Amino acid sequence: MKKTILTLLITLTTNSIATDSQSLYKNCAGCHGDKGETSALLVSALIAGQDANKTILQLTAYKNGELNKYGLGNIMKMQVATLSEDDIADLAEYIASLKK
Ligand code: HEC
Repeated sequence: MKKTILTLLITLTTNSIATDSQSLYKNCAGCHGDKGETSALLVSALIAGQDANKTILQLTAYKNGELNKYGLGNIMKMQVATLSEDDIADLAEYIASLKK
């Protein structure tokens, strides 16, 4: 019985993490595509399947105003301004899980 409850809790927690990052990503899909398959504003790289550590570094740098690859860094800065470190890590995992 205890084991069942534990399993249930773990399942619920895992699912809610997945839903969280998915709903966070909804804010990105307009430019990057539902599956990260679109070049945002025709300038960005395709982010689907991108290494999570790379994404964390990039999003953190955008947030701090330190990345401006194609002159549109400010647009990305607005997207990530209110995200926490945890949000950024969740998003990075989600993006890494998208198929290229
Ligand atoms: C309004 C359109 C728009 C939205 C919404 C948006 N982005 Fe971007 N994204 C861009 C643009 C434009 C760039 C290129 C910025 C630059 O000049 O460096 C970019 C760049 C990136 C890059 C780097 C890609 C590369 O070329 O190396 C990542 C990763 C990224 N965005 C993730 C996200 C995530 C995650 C979200 C949601 C929180 C998001 N973006 C929301 C427009 C958008």
